[in-house]
Amino acid sequence: MSGALSEQIVKGDRFVVAVDGPAGAGKGAVCRAVASRFAFSYLDTGSIYRAVALLSLQKNIESDQELGELAASMPFEFRQVEGVGFRGFLAGEDVSDALREEQVGRKASHVAAVPQVRAALLTFQRHYGGDKNIILDGRDTGTVVWPDADLKVFLTASLEERAKRRALELQGKGETVSFQKIRDMIARRDARDAGRTHAPLAAAADAQHVDTTRLTLDQSIDCVAKMVDKMVGNKPR
Ligand code: DC
Repeated sequence: MSGALSEQIVKGDRFVVAVDGPAGAGKGAVCRAVASRFAFSYLDTGSIYRAVALLSLQKNIESDQELGELAASMPFEFRQVEGVGFRGFLAGEDVSDALREEQVGRKASHVAAVPQVRAALLTFQRHYGGDKNIILDGRDTGTVVWPDADLKVFLTASLEERAKRRALELQGKGETVSFQKIRDMIARRDARDAGRTHAPLAAAADAQHVDTTRLTLDQSIDCVAKMVDKMVGNKPR
């Protein structure tokens, strides 16, 4: 472990799994299942940017300084709700559905570019879960947030496959969007995520790459669970 970050917030004994990758590779579903299986704490890091966005819309906050303060004091947590799964709570209120709204997503990409917000959320992510073992997913969890993670996974799938999964998901909700349109949207998002200046999507040099293109969800979960199992077993306590 080295650098100012790790000196600032000590990792301690907790086992940290950082999962990064492009949209649609299955990060969320894999992390939730692994968190349940090993009783780890779970954090979907995209949701915390969305939570700042939701609060800023509700409170009409625009300035970078105030957005940073909002991010630093945000009472947000993920909790596993019996029979439902992981849900996001702001000050005790389940805001999971609101976080997925289109306008919140748009605002999130704006607040994610504010340096004060990124700094506050970095501290948030390092503290999240206290001393509990944790699995978190996002774009920069293995490179920026937890460069000292015990296990780093870079989860990918081909553009075609990710577009297919998204199309099926939308079909399940009764929405019909052309495959071509979905594919183009995901390709644009990939380019944006990889090309941005703040925390661009990139695999850590020591990440284990898992390509889920030809894997079912259960196979993807098993693959990451096996890595965790092997490492938790080997970690001196
Ligand atoms: O993955 P998502 O759509 O829920 O992410 C919401 C926004 O937050 C998106 O604009 C990217 C940004 N984000 C980020 O900057 N860093 C992360 N680790 C996760 C998400």
